Amino acid sequence: MIVLSITFATIWLGAAVAKKHAGPPPQYDFLIVGGGTSGLVVANRLSEKKDVTVAVIEAGDSVLHNVNVTTVLGYGLAFGTDIDWAYQTEDQTYADGKKQTMRAGKAIGGTSTINGMSYTRAQDVQIDAWELAGKGWNWKNLFPYYKKSEHFQIPTPEQVAAGADYYIAYHGLTGPLKVGWPYEMTNDSVLPVLDETMRQLGVPFNRDANGGEMVGLTSHPNTVDREKDIREDAARAYFWPFESRPNLKIISNTNVNKILWSNDSHSEALAVGVEVTGPNGTETILASKEVILSAGSLKSPVILELSGVGNPDILKKYDIPVKVNNTAVGENLQDQTNNGLHWEGREFFLGEATFSLMPSANQLYGDKVSDIASSINSSLADYAEAVEKFSNGAVQAANVLYMLQIQWDLIFKSQVPFAEIVFLPIARTFGTEYWPLLPFSRGSIHIKSSDPTKTPSINPNYFMFEQDFDSAVAVAQYIRKIFSTRPLSDLVGDETSPGLDLLPENASDTDWKNWVKSTYRSNYHPVGTASMLPREKGGVVNPELKVYGTQNVRVIDASVFPSQLCGHLTSTLYAVAERASDLIKNKYTAYRTMDSG
Ligand SMILES: Cc1cc2nc3c(=O)[nH]c(=O)nc-3n(C[C@H](O)[C@H](O)[C@H](O)COP(=O)(O)OP(=O)(O)OC[C@H]3O[C@@H](n4cnc5c(N)ncnc54)[C@H](O)[C@@H]3O)c2cc1C
Ligand SMILES: *[C@@H]1O[C@H](CO)[C@@H](O)[C@H](O)[C@H]1NC(C)=O
Ligand SMILES: *[C@@H]1O[C@H](CO)[C@@H](O)[C@H](O)[C@H]1NC(C)=O
Ligand SMILES: *[C@@H]1O[C@H](CO)[C@@H](O)[C@H](O)[C@H]1NC(C)=O
Ligand SMILES: *[C@@H]1O[C@H](CO)[C@@H](O)[C@H](O)[C@H]1NC(C)=O
Ligand SMILES: *[C@@H]1O[C@H](CO)[C@@H](O)[C@H](O)[C@H]1NC(C)=O
Ligand SMILES: *[C@@H]1O[C@H](CO)[C@@H](O)[C@H](O)[C@H]1NC(C)=O
Ligand SMILES: *[C@@H]1O[C@H](CO)[C@@H](O)[C@H](O)[C@H]1NC(C)=O
Repeated sequence: MIVLSITFATIWLGAAVAKKHAGPPPQYDFLIVGGGTSGLVVANRLSEKKDVTVAVIEAGDSVLHNVNVTTVLGYGLAFGTDIDWAYQTEDQTYADGKKQTMRAGKAIGGTSTINGMSYTRAQDVQIDAWELAGKGWNWKNLFPYYKKSEHFQIPTPEQVAAGADYYIAYHGLTGPLKVGWPYEMTNDSVLPVLDETMRQLGVPFNRDANGGEMVGLTSHPNTVDREKDIREDAARAYFWPFESRPNLKIISNTNVNKILWSNDSHSEALAVGVEVTGPNGTETILASKEVILSAGSLKSPVILELSGVGNPDILKKYDIPVKVNNTAVGENLQDQTNNGLHWEGREFFLGEATFSLMPSANQLYGDKVSDIASSINSSLADYAEAVEKFSNGAVQAANVLYMLQIQWDLIFKSQVPFAEIVFLPIARTFGTEYWPLLPFSRGSIHIKSSDPTKTPSINPNYFMFEQDFDSAVAVAQYIRKIFSTRPLSDLVGDETSPGLDLLPENASDTDWKNWVKSTYRSNYHPVGTASMLPREKGGVVNPELKVYGTQNVRVIDASVFPSQLCGHLTSTLYAVAERASDLIKNKYTAYRTMDSG
């Protein structure tokens, strides 16, 4: 049991300046900043202990009855509405200077309320690679937490006939999060055609990609409540059924501006609460144990900087006193890029398609793979130098190189999936979307003002390295090859986009590259901006997800992933937040975690 010595009288005095209404500021044991995908898991698990008080502070509101959130076939309806932050990037230097929109949910439930529902985890060796970053983080330890969060809805025989497949050992049946296939699955004729086509190209079927081996063609499950026929999200799973717990409070429509610190001298900074702006104006909310940032990878590092945790060169520019000097805050931003190719369908298809293909580098590149692998290997040191330069020395090339080498090993030695290609037979079109899974580009996010309402500078540096273009081009060309292979080629007519007029069969790689550049979008998977790594290697949080240099501030969201994953992010976020909750409980009690070693 940890007892924090705080002089509350001093805090109240300081807080009174900002407060409008009388009485001391409200106080909770744990303050969770952001009621999104990860934050609600932590809120739920911590408030299981009746003697602990938890408040979640969320910028958005309830979307429990918002049809743009609930409709199973409604992906995209919420884009651009007031529950989408629609963050704008800086001009993208390597892609004709255009900005991109990075979507993220502003609601109780966060980005899980507007996302694509795909439920795929990660390749086991990728999570094992985190062990280098944080002791205890490996596939074996995380796997039980994926299952702990999951309520797998076993497919009906009709769903199995339409392609739903699984190994029961990979799934949890009693967790809060409903996972499975909706009743409105795509016609059962599609998957056998895709399977036969991919066999021609040497890619096997993967019955269940959620056991740590992702390569192949699969029909993956979604986060969906099959019986209610609505989309599942973090709030539906982890918050609304528990809303009446007296020790769990949600404070919505309220933005956290910054962390408030104790002024007593401590070797490590001690958070005493947060400053918020909401319906009552600007106020203080106190935390007696911890402040947990779960505002997402495009917000948590910003809140750290506004609170004085970050790069002194940046903080000084905006007159923010340096509480913790850590130049890694906001660096290491990694996202993927998304493009699509489309064909006319010869038949009419309906339903929610969940077919995805995850080929390895060997499968995608065939004979060319060893040339490509060694050419990338010989560029890694240059990439690392370029990332250091872009960061103005905030990150060190040696640290970047260390991580890039791990990534190279995963791609070319371990043969994790190289790209994800999703097949979208919808009505009279047969479309695809795809993204290379592990780009080498690295960007950053930093404040541009000390005013929390001002947008930060978000720069994913898409296509910073030629290799990221080359892989986007290679996957596009591979998709064309798939669609010209029987039996899939019998199911489709002309390619409608980009189409042979724009990119004929003999189009050059430069033409393809220009197409990629002019049509790409963010894949909305930003990670890495408050990485879990050793501090001297560019880390912001330690293996307990505690921010270095602080006593009691954690980050629990996609910011802490030190590297991009081959799965979609939510499944791993739920698992990480589950495990982090156990680590916190373990710290304050003799609670036993599920780790076996
Ligand atoms: C369009 C789209 C499609 C996607 N598709 C998939 C998919 O199919 N499958 C999948 O697994 N993943 C998908 N993802 C990614 C995935 O949904 C996200 O990575 C994940 O939900 C992020 O979780 P998080 O906990 O890091 O943050 P979030 O869920 O974004 O939670 C952060 C919360 O903090 C709140 N907040 C932010 N700032 C403040 C502040 N200052 N004060 C108070 N609250 C604040 C936000 O409003 C939000 O509720 C998709 C993402 C998008 C945008
Ligand atoms: C710490 O000191 C600053 C500056 O005097 C003051 O604004 C702030 O309220 C104090 N914080 C606490 C927690 O007392
Ligand atoms: C749903 O989204 C549409 C736009 O796609 C918008 O016009 C409508 O207001 C949204 N509904 C709600 C409840 O937010
Ligand atoms: C705002 O004020 C009302 C009434 O005093 C109170 O019930 C509510 O909890 C306050 N909200 C916040 C975020 O402090
Ligand atoms: C911050 O830390 C860096 C790296 O440890 C160091 O080089 C720099 O001098 C420090 N800056 C300040 C203002 O303390
Ligand atoms: C797919 O299913 C829909 C709805 O049942 C039906 O209208 C359509 O004809 C089917 N298409 C094929 C190719 O079987
Ligand atoms: C990768 O490059 C490094 C240094 O350039 C070299 O030492 C190493 O042998 C290369 N590895 C492979 C597998 O080519
Ligand atoms: C591609 O082929 C077309 C016609 O077959 C020809 O006109 C054109 O010059 C070729 N382009 C290239 C780049 O080879």
